[in-house]
Amino acid sequence: MKAATAELIKRLEGRTPKTALVLGSGLGAFVDQIEDAIHISYDDLEGFPKSGVSGHAGELVVGTLNGKSIIVLSGRIHYYEQGDASAMRLPISVLQAVGVERLVLTNSAGSLREDLPPGSVMLITDHINWSGMNPLIGEPTDARFVGMTNAYNKEMKTSIREAAKSANVELGEGVYMWFSGPSFETPAEIKMARMLGGDAVGMSTVPEVILARFIGLEVAAFSVITNFGAGMTGGELSHTETKEMAPMGGEKLGKLLAAWLGANTDTKK
Ligand code: HPA
Repeated sequence: MKAATAELIKRLEGRTPKTALVLGSGLGAFVDQIEDAIHISYDDLEGFPKSGVSGHAGELVVGTLNGKSIIVLSGRIHYYEQGDASAMRLPISVLQAVGVERLVLTNSAGSLREDLPPGSVMLITDHINWSGMNPLIGEPTDARFVGMTNAYNKEMKTSIREAAKSANVELGEGVYMWFSGPSFETPAEIKMARMLGGDAVGMSTVPEVILARFIGLEVAAFSVITNFGAGMTGGELSHTETKEMAPMGGEKLGKLLAAWLGANTDTKK
């Protein structure tokens, strides 16, 4: 972790972003909004993931959005790639080591609600860890017993709702349910997920939320809805559909995040 931290501090050239953003599948276009951007390949940061999922760039983009400094992680590693739920621990820890205080996580997800169609953006208010995995398995200290009652930061949720209003972006809210993937869910699993209280299903984010809370970062998270859950409409699901549909909600999310960052008085330049 030391090598990656030292390298990143050098490349930041005095910038001190307090906010970092992790981009989900198909949401890479967000980085086009970043001004004065510098791109740092994960290959230059020791221990950063070599994500093989198409739709993920594998680079860190640093710059400003609406006048505020931000670090964007374009590309994450998922549990389903190597069976390691803690794969994002090093990158998230490095962000904190360079001064990041809040982490905004994004993903593409399947909707479990008719009133949340593809193209919608959902603020994640809570999650269900259906994978049974946890990134803190093996962590030897008592710090592993992380409280998750307020995992999704209350103040951030409030300021995000305000930003959505001011930017005129329709924002749904709901519970994200983590399935390990990489196969999509069956119609029976989607029926179950709906009964259990999920609003969207996906294959990421939850381990990162747990890791971020473990080290004390404030967290907010969004799902960009790319499809209805399996069996809700009849068609087969595919990663191609995810990548094709994500930019629609991604554009709304970009607008909302720009408004939120701009209005966020404690998001230091
Ligand atoms: N299920 C799981 N992950 C997803 C989906 C889905 O329907 N859509 C996009 N990511």
